[in-house]
Amino acid sequence: MNLANRNLVTIDDLSNGEIEALFSLTDEMANFPNEQSGLCQGKIMASLFFEPSTRTRLSFEAAMLRLGGRIISAIDVGATSLAKGESIADMARVIGSYADIIVIRHPWEGAARVVADYAGVPVINAGDGSHEHPTQTLCDLYTIRKKRQTIKGLRIALWGDLKHGRTVHSLIYALARFGATILFSNSPGLEMPEHVLRKLATEYAYKLIDVKTLDAEVKRGLFPLHAMYVTPVSPHQLAMLPDIPEISIQIKGNIETLKKHGIDALLHYNVSENELELKLKRAEIDTLYMMRLQKERQTSTEEVQELKRNYPVVDKKLLEGKVFKKTLVMHPLPRVDELAHDVDADPRSMYFKQAAYGMPIRMALLAFLLGAKKIIIPEKQDSFVRKIDYPVYKRDSGVKCPNIKCVSNQETEVRYIKPEFKIVSREPLTLRCIYCDHELHPQYIASSDWHEGKLESKKYHSADSHFARKIKPENLIIFASEKGAQSQGFKPSIYARQ
Ligand code: NCD
Repeated sequence: MNLANRNLVTIDDLSNGEIEALFSLTDEMANFPNEQSGLCQGKIMASLFFEPSTRTRLSFEAAMLRLGGRIISAIDVGATSLAKGESIADMARVIGSYADIIVIRHPWEGAARVVADYAGVPVINAGDGSHEHPTQTLCDLYTIRKKRQTIKGLRIALWGDLKHGRTVHSLIYALARFGATILFSNSPGLEMPEHVLRKLATEYAYKLIDVKTLDAEVKRGLFPLHAMYVTPVSPHQLAMLPDIPEISIQIKGNIETLKKHGIDALLHYNVSENELELKLKRAEIDTLYMMRLQKERQTSTEEVQELKRNYPVVDKKLLEGKVFKKTLVMHPLPRVDELAHDVDADPRSMYFKQAAYGMPIRMALLAFLLGAKKIIIPEKQDSFVRKIDYPVYKRDSGVKCPNIKCVSNQETEVRYIKPEFKIVSREPLTLRCIYCDHELHPQYIASSDWHEGKLESKKYHSADSHFARKIKPENLIIFASEKGAQSQGFKPSIYARQ
């Protein structure tokens, strides 16, 4: 497997084996940071940060300098031709002819993907709006691995702004791929986006259990983490986790057991009652990953004030709780009020280590992508993610990504970007934007096959009619609305309303 000339736009661009190999090289970089200056001599990294950054930008730049390379940079949209209305695709083409590798942070979701499509040199996503931040995930995984040797089977709680926090979006996919059990707790209104949950279920075969669906009696007096437990359930993943027997138990029957151990989310491994009891006895949280409120992504200051009122805080007192006895406290930083300074000296606090690991990790990554180091992957360690080849929909029929922050909806980019989606489900019809992963459920469709040459049969149908489901993906025409179908000359069929 070769990482040279590849992009890192989403964490799924790296297999588990590649991540492991990257971590081995990171160890070498961390132990001998001053002996690597021959690796990238003569190479230039473009450092483009169009959103604030301290750790990510400076650790990338320090990494490149330690590898013997050089840097060109732009850190303000206002100082580039983007301010004159230039598209990021044109910017990418130009910078790709000056630099050997591009690191980009941008507020639009999917921006790094567009840059990667046009630059002609490797591109690293250093954060694209609320979408993903894969290199922070590498820092997070590496930190956990250093302390716990493995990720598999760990109980990892994600706290805070799970809606806008891009670091948790990349992290959750990686944790799922390495077989962790994930516990969410979000403030109201800051829930993990639907499309992330769906991806966990479809791509990573995780089973989600929403505690909100349990009755009040069950929820009363439970541990403050209150959202969902997510654990692998597919037979394929079970095969990778041989300690999980295949006997299923009824969740309701075990509520008392759950409560006795002070946990308010449901374990959904298929285990026997005895085993569940055992697992719950070890109900500690291995890692608590905290996020700040991403106030720059909220719509109003009133909203920020309201969200702040209910925002969780990690402090010395909380960490006295039994379940946190051996918890690693993690945070991508910067912190604001959600992580008290009184835990900084606590040996469980990992956040400054996470930030420090950023430099050797990014040294290893740059060395791989620039072809200065070759990757060797032991086969048995490679990924167990199910790669699904969803059909792609890219007809120009008026369907747009619903996410206003998506790169495909920006004025300067609509001139050349054609919306493109993966058809991730036919029942209900669900399209996933290839740039930002947001999903939509269009209501009306037609077939290009049936109306070809026969205007009278140019009919549209309700997307959930049995008739519509028979249309082959390659013949699908999908409409944003009924009006959209009619404006393109289609008439309602008897299946248009159901
Ligand atoms: C994070 C980011 O920019 O997404 N910071 C980082 O890169 N370490 C987290 C944040 O800003 O909250």
